[in-house]
Formats: sequence, structure tokens, C-alpha cells
Amino acid sequence: MKWAGGKGQLLEQYEPLFPSSWTRYFEPFLGGGAVFFHLQPQRSLLADVNPSLISVYRCVRDNVDELLERLEEHQALHCKDYYYEVRSQHNLTALPHAARFIYLNKTCFNGLYRENLKGQFNVPMGRYKKPTIHDPERLWAASKALQDTELLTQDFTEIIRQATRKSDFVFLDPPYHPISSTSSFTSYSKMAFGELQQRQLRKVFSKLADSGVKVMLSNSDCEFVRDLYRDFPIHTISASRSINSKGGRRGKVNEVVVTSYRV
Ligand SMILES: C[S@@+](CC[C@H](N)C(=O)[O-])C[C@H]1O[C@@H](n2cnc3c(N)ncnc32)[C@H](O)[C@@H]1O
Repeated sequence: MKWAGGKGQLLEQYEPLFPSSWTRYFEPFLGGGAVFFHLQPQRSLLADVNPSLISVYRCVRDNVDELLERLEEHQALHCKDYYYEVRSQHNLTALPHAARFIYLNKTCFNGLYRENLKGQFNVPMGRYKKPTIHDPERLWAASKALQDTELLTQDFTEIIRQATRKSDFVFLDPPYHPISSTSSFTSYSKMAFGELQQRQLRKVFSKLADSGVKVMLSNSDCEFVRDLYRDFPIHTISASRSINSKGGRRGKVNEVVVTSYRV
């Protein structure tokens, strides 16, 4: 899946920052799940507040062959009219919903996920010459990686009840705190993620760290974030970002990774 804030490009810089060992993996802001798919842990709990997204992953885990059949159909029929026809569909059952979600994700502008206030997906079609919608190898691989995972729709605060052991590893990738008032991108879902949520998240981080759970968090490099996590090791990494308030604007920006452990 393409996802705003996707971590695919950063994995190399993340590598030395992961804890050296753990038994169970937790990712409560799953999005595109780049870190999960990279690490492919044996036992994991994956969650996101977006129920549409979680239901797609469940289909990939449990029903990959039927899902592929439907994606093959979308691939064959894809054109502008078809895109807007599929975009207008709603109240679908799990399987056609998952196929629609992946189809729109692969063909919409920048792979953005945005809903209007009625909860309808409203991103226009992207300008891809030949988007790959039906990709059996990748989807089978994703399905295999997801086999032993628990997938939940929930708020991130629930994670303190689930990750409790010293051998647990929690990766926190929240919507980033905006580095300037014009760069805010918080429209993943109807729920906003402002300073209040960032402070709640800091409490969650501390609680987990206090119980010895290994925690790693990413966020934007700004004074607010550095100040929130001043009691923990903060590592700076460099990212090339393509999705921001100006749509196509790209550039290198620093981000931070906070760990509850020394690396
Ligand atoms: C930065 S994205 C994660 C990107 C992901 N790591 C990747 O590589 O694609 C943040 C995710 O947090 C989710 N989210 C927003 N508010 C949340 C909340 N209160 N609880 C749990 N998840 C939330 C969004 O739906 C979004 O998928």
C-alpha cells in the first residue's frame, strides 16, 4: 500500500536503531506497515484507528486468492470513468471493499487517503500510465507475513494494556507534529491528531518504557517533539518527503527517532 508518511525509504536508517532482540512486536499506527513488512516478526499485534484499513489487511491475511481475482478485474477495467465509478461505491462487504481500497490506493493521486466529513473517500485519480493493481507475488508475500498477526481497529492508547513484557517491542509511528503551521497533514481519518494527542502519546511511551517494554517512536524534528521526549535518547535521521500540504513538493527534512533504550 502507498501511505502518507510511509517508512519504506527510511528502513536503512532505522536498522541500527531497532532493539537487538524481542519476542512480540506491536505497531499501533499501522498505516502502510512498512516496518512490519520489513521485520516480518513471528508474533505481532497490528492496529490502526482506521477500520477500513484494518479490514483490508484481514482480507489479505485470510482471503488472498479471492482478493486477487477481484484485483485482476479492477486491473482489466481501469480507466478514468471506472475509477470514479468505483470511488462512488459504498457499503460493500469485506472482500469487494478490500479490493476497492487497494484499487483506489494504487490509482489515486499520490496514494493519499482522505475522506470528506461523510466518511467518503474523495481523492481524485492520479496520473499513472500503467499502475500495478493486480500483483500476486507481493500480495501472497504480504498474506504470508500477516498469517500469525492479530489485527485490531483501536486507538493507540490501548497498547499499554497489550504490550506489558520486557521482551515486547512497540514501534510508534503517529501522524507527525507539523513543523510549521502550513505543513500540517492530519487528514488520515475523521480523527485529528493535535498537541493533545501528542502529549497523550508521550504518556503512553513513558508508561511502556517504565515497564521495561522496548519502544521506538518516529516524529518530525521540531522543538515541541524534542522537548516532549527530552528524557529519552533522540536520534536524527534524514527523510525525503513527497506528501505534504503542497501536494507535489519534495525535499529533505530531518526527522527524529526516540528510543526507550540505548543503541
Ligand atoms: C504516519 S501514519 C503510519 C505510517 C506507517 N508507519 C507506514 O509506514 O506506512 C499514521 C497512522 O496512524 C493512524 N492513526 C491516526 N490517529 C490514530 C489513533 N488515535 N490511534 C491509532 N492510529 C491512529 C492513521 O490512520 C495512520 O494510518
